[in-house]
Amino acid sequence: MSEFTIAQAARFQGQQVTLRGWLYNLRESGKLLFPQFRDGTGIMQAVVSKADVSSEVWERATTLTQESSVIAHGTVRADKRAPGGYELVLNDLTVVQRVPTDQPYPISPKEHGVDFLMSQRHLWMRSAKQSALLRLRHEVIAAIRDFFDSNGFILTDAPILTPAACEGTTTLFELDYFDLGPAYLTQSGQLYIEATAAALGKVYCFGPTFRAEKSKTRRHLTEFWMVEPELSFATLDDLMKLGEDLVTHIVARVLERRRPELETLERDTSKLENVRPPFHRLSYDDALKLLHQKGSQLPWGEDLSGADETFISQQFDKPVIVHRYPAKAKAFYMEPDPERPELALCMDMLAPDGYGEIIGGSQRIDSYDLLLKRLRENNLPEDAFQWYLDLRRYGSVPHGGFGLGVERTVAWIAGISHIRETIPFPRMIYRIYP
Ligand code: 4AD
Ligand code: MG
Repeated sequence: MSEFTIAQAARFQGQQVTLRGWLYNLRESGKLLFPQFRDGTGIMQAVVSKADVSSEVWERATTLTQESSVIAHGTVRADKRAPGGYELVLNDLTVVQRVPTDQPYPISPKEHGVDFLMSQRHLWMRSAKQSALLRLRHEVIAAIRDFFDSNGFILTDAPILTPAACEGTTTLFELDYFDLGPAYLTQSGQLYIEATAAALGKVYCFGPTFRAEKSKTRRHLTEFWMVEPELSFATLDDLMKLGEDLVTHIVARVLERRRPELETLERDTSKLENVRPPFHRLSYDDALKLLHQKGSQLPWGEDLSGADETFISQQFDKPVIVHRYPAKAKAFYMEPDPERPELALCMDMLAPDGYGEIIGGSQRIDSYDLLLKRLRENNLPEDAFQWYLDLRRYGSVPHGGFGLGVERTVAWIAGISHIRETIPFPRMIYRIYP
């Protein structure tokens, strides 16, 4: 028999088990105590009856303080009233470390402000909702890896220290790189995996990326995780289909394996059940029409703002893919639409319920001459991009890919308002501690 965990309590019904964990909460009712323990996989209520345990054990249990670490022994009993459906009938208890009464755990069950909680992030993550979010994040990441690994993609991670920008020069974190001058933290692994895609066909990279975002929004971190697939011989249609399949797979996997977490987060899962292909596809021009109908003045040619995305994604009950944005609003590397060269062959996927962009991607310019022209128009350093131009000198093919932001995806699936709670230690313009 495997080791007992709270998440697997049902499998241990009627058995004597050892629970290693921490005290989450303690309720007293006469000669009965109801400590709630957590072990990282979930929270479980125990019952201690004064009549059934030794006086030492009773004494230890009554004086337990929040977040004291313990080893508890007892039998697992089904009880409909207990949260999770099972409780532990306790018969022995060892305290590993007792949190002293004169220095109590700083986060009590009462309401605290977010700023205080963020300063206590190293402890806050123990709470039911926060730990559920981190387990959900784990599941999303595992689902992403499984999806690519089982569909013929080779993982080729990109460097984090880079000599040039990928997504515009305004959000670069710069540092001194020995005698070689400035270097930057990567904004995206894309340019590098265009090279690995030409070597290996279908590839992906998955790692932290950095943006010196000056914006204080609920969707922006300065350090976030992005998964980026890149495919040789791919068109925009292929990319939209791939994004749709990926997101469908992630949501299905979370629904399959993380019901208790979604419940803790009070997520309305009927909305997630709806996430099945096909997703709505909307051209930028049609998106603009929608916005103009509700009174927006956004001129043709400008990128959608966060508020615009919110509005558009509120119109749909599942993710919507907006494609063919004006080229001038987007990155230098995007392939123009041959039928209307003022448009880029690109797409953003917006999550429903106002969550906005979770995926951004495009077909890449495959012509050497056009790419060189764009580098010059954007004042990008040609020297630093010679290797990138090589990809158009030697066996260039139509190719493309996209990036999916992990934190925004988790925030949407979890149904929480701010992405700062979806990563263990968020980095934002106004926060670097802890
Ligand atoms: O749309 P973005 O900027 O696209 C790229 O970086 C492309 N080079 C990707 C590619 O084609 N390989 O970013 C992709 C995704 C966004 O849709 C969003 O989910 C996330 O990355 N993202 C952020 N997440 C959190 N905080 C930020 N500051 C983010 N910026 C982008
Ligand atoms: Mg984008």
